[in-house]
Amino acid sequence: MRFDSEVELPPRATNAAYIELQRRLESAAVSYPRKIPIAIHHARNEMVTDMEGREYIDFLTGAGVLPLGHNPSFLVEIAKRQLDTITHGLDFPTEAKMDFMEQHLSMLPESLQGKYKMHFCGPTGADAVEAAIKLAKFNTQGGEVISFIGGYHGCTQGALSLTTDRKLKEGVQNLIPGVHYFPFSYCYSCPFGLERASCGNTCASYFSRVMGDSHNGMGKIAAVILECVQGEGGVIPVKPALMQAVYRFTQEQKIPLIIDEVQTGCGRTGSWFAFEEYGIEPDIIVMSKAISGIGAPCAFILYKKHLDTWSAGKHIGTFRGNNMAFATGAEFVRFAKRSNLLGNVRERGLELMQALKALAVAHGFVGDVRGKGLMLGVEIVVPDSARRSPKTARLLQQYLVESGLIVELGGRDSSTIRLLPPLNISTESVRRAISIMESVFQRVDAEHHQHAISYETGDYAI
Ligand SMILES: Cc1ncc(COP(=O)(O)O)c(C=O)c1O
Repeated sequence: MRFDSEVELPPRATNAAYIELQRRLESAAVSYPRKIPIAIHHARNEMVTDMEGREYIDFLTGAGVLPLGHNPSFLVEIAKRQLDTITHGLDFPTEAKMDFMEQHLSMLPESLQGKYKMHFCGPTGADAVEAAIKLAKFNTQGGEVISFIGGYHGCTQGALSLTTDRKLKEGVQNLIPGVHYFPFSYCYSCPFGLERASCGNTCASYFSRVMGDSHNGMGKIAAVILECVQGEGGVIPVKPALMQAVYRFTQEQKIPLIIDEVQTGCGRTGSWFAFEEYGIEPDIIVMSKAISGIGAPCAFILYKKHLDTWSAGKHIGTFRGNNMAFATGAEFVRFAKRSNLLGNVRERGLELMQALKALAVAHGFVGDVRGKGLMLGVEIVVPDSARRSPKTARLLQQYLVESGLIVELGGRDSSTIRLLPPLNISTESVRRAISIMESVFQRVDAEHHQHAISYETGDYAI
């Protein structure tokens, strides 16, 4: 941490003062600053500076919407130019929009080129999920949707119905009916209680058996939706066997397979779309978060051409024409191509993964490290057990932030530390982040030993 001498800070502004002002003015549903108690003065690339001049490496990156970190200067220039040309264009064609479409469509794998159409949605992942479900229902005339335990698809009422975190749903009655949740390949904490060695891909065979059972109680199915790597669910990649079972079923039954790439898309996992690694052809692909390259709100779905049966105005929304997002998004894709961004994701991802594995060897409270590319998670447990330790995870997060590394928690009991660095992060910044993690993990280990702190309750014995 150091002071940034180039930027003048407002006098007497403290993080606490801003957070208190926010508490008085803003909704009780404010989320991130409760665990990361900073107010942001400014940010650039992978660095964030708080109101008191402290600098942080940002491994949260706006929950994954900032693939190149904060306001990269070349995209800021593009945005400024676009603001002077046209900013909001409903769904009229513009130069920026056509360029954006061409660039993003060009990122589909060779074998899928020309097979998809694009639909712009209200500028959030959740609205794009709504559009995907609506399109699937419209095409199949089915009403039931299959989702997976641990899945997160957003907080609007349709998307929330597909999401399985019960805390988010508590007290909200009458979400959309007809959603069925299947066990996901959360192998560290197998939903069938099996050890890895004896698992035999039970989640995959369970899915196939239930879907093939004429007494499964389901009505006509509209869609199956899943993430290739569950993000909010705890950074859990889908096992190839489960993905193949789902793909086989949807192909055979002609049920649209929706792959939610809101968090995994745009290179986060090391390929442009995470589904590419599974050799499947999704019927509908949901994209948002990183697509503008600079964090400007935008969302779209891609869907197979034969599904383009809806008529004008079937899924509208005023904010579908963010031309600034289009201009920066197109340039972001060009940058990704010319700079071998995906190569960087894979290489830096490997470096981080190796360091996390070393932390797991050194510290008994690291239960599992997992993920793909630069979407990584560290599950924190009570040492020598697989019981989650949310208290320790929270303490680690607090010390990491205090030491200059912003990370978020996720997964069951918020006990997985989630790492979402910028995709163009340098080896040097990865090393700095690892070094912060090493010293914080050591500190937590030492404090627990010294004071005999319980990993279960966080209470001090000494
Ligand atoms: C996989 C996935 N789908 C959908 C969403 C919802 O996106 P938004 O928050 O933009 O509505 C998210 C958000 O984290 C997500 O991770």
